[in-house]
Amino acid sequence: MATNITWHPNLTFEERKQLRKQSGATIWLTGLSASGKSTIACALEQLFLKENIAAYRLDGDNVRFGLNKDLGFSEKDRNENIRRISEVSKLFADSCTIAITSFISPYKADRSKARSIHKEGNLDFIEVFVDVPLQTAEERDPKGLYKKAREGIIKEFTGISAPYEEPDNAEIHLRTDRQTVEECAIQIYDYLRKKGLI
Ligand code: PPS
Repeated sequence: MATNITWHPNLTFEERKQLRKQSGATIWLTGLSASGKSTIACALEQLFLKENIAAYRLDGDNVRFGLNKDLGFSEKDRNENIRRISEVSKLFADSCTIAITSFISPYKADRSKARSIHKEGNLDFIEVFVDVPLQTAEERDPKGLYKKAREGIIKEFTGISAPYEEPDNAEIHLRTDRQTVEECAIQIYDYLRKKGLI
């Protein structure tokens, strides 16, 4: 716990928004492994960047190669993983960038904390439930992880031996077994447009 620290005020969010001519927000994708979070996040990031809208993707697997390389998949480590990403995405949003996070983020309480962290900074937080039936995710199994989880080779695997708590207040609900990646990305894009965030 740090002591003797002082908060240095800088530009307000409103001032930064005016100077950068862009707002910021966090789009929080949550869903099972193989639900399509990363694929949708990639499509969305490209959509924004092609329109000169600053956006950056924070991805579960990728972040675990660096910032969160010390964390595993116990409940405690997932809590810490999501706490750190909540703070990092808040910084991106505050810098007037669209942060697109794609983490399983299986616990409601962690997602709710992520929302509160953004709310404290008056920053928009858009929760997107990337929904797919477990059976479909398991049939897709692009990394062979479900198979390993069923065989007991991977412990605490979400949906098999670890929980996934579905959101009940997500701003956007996608069904990736019925919608294409493009349709999902456009649904999110349109939502931001309607909210005046882009
Ligand atoms: S979490 O629950 O939000 O902390 O997980 P996240 O940081 O998004 O990491 C999920 C990716 O890690 C791989 N992986 C596992 N997922 C779930 N459970 C276990 N035990 C596990 N072990 C490794 C997997 O590739 C996940 O990526 P996605 O893109 O979701 O498939």
